[in-house]
Amino acid sequence: MKFFIDTADVAEIREANELGILDGVTTNPSLIAKTGRSFEEVAKEILALVDGPVSLEVVSVDKAGMLAEAEKLAAWGDNVVIKLPLIADGLKACKELTSRGVKTNVTLCFSANQALLAAKAGATYISPFIGRIDDTGHDGMELIREIRQVYDNYGFTTQILAASIRHPVHVRDAALIGADVSTIPLKVFNQLVNHPLTDKGLATFLADAKKIQA
Ligand code: E4P
Repeated sequence: MKFFIDTADVAEIREANELGILDGVTTNPSLIAKTGRSFEEVAKEILALVDGPVSLEVVSVDKAGMLAEAEKLAAWGDNVVIKLPLIADGLKACKELTSRGVKTNVTLCFSANQALLAAKAGATYISPFIGRIDDTGHDGMELIREIRQVYDNYGFTTQILAASIRHPVHVRDAALIGADVSTIPLKVFNQLVNHPLTDKGLATFLADAKKIQA
């Protein structure tokens, strides 16, 4: 499973990158707005920091506008992935960008049928939002399971990018089902690393190490 970080905060990206297991970055307009900085400035800093794919989201809702934005964003780096909303024009833009060899991430996916459409449009990644489905009282992970099955049934190569991840169990379950990527907030990255029994065991080993004769 590939690990992306879901943030536009450069300090967070740097911290996750230092772990040596970061494969890419996903951003969205809300995450960019949180930085208080300009889109272009933040995006270019992230692109320079990370070798892997960096998803940058368009804000147009019509195909022509999306394609114009995509052309501008794609020129910012070889690792730019154009993030498109899962609406009819997003699918049309996805099809066109795919035919031009541009990588795409179709976002805001909430059903297996939507994921099927994105795959047929040639999306590089599909982003089902697990946490937001859980928030409505439904099981977000069930969607990952369904998409995995649909894609495997027909041999689609679109990568399932588990998004809206809120806690370590989401990462574990997405990995068990076979999602290709998890995009993870820094807080959850740290939760994946840390375990109280590791800390307790290490403290004991270090205390006992001092008792060993030289
Ligand atoms: C995915 O690419 C989105 O940026 C993200 O995972 C949304 O997560 P949220 O529901 O925590 O905002």
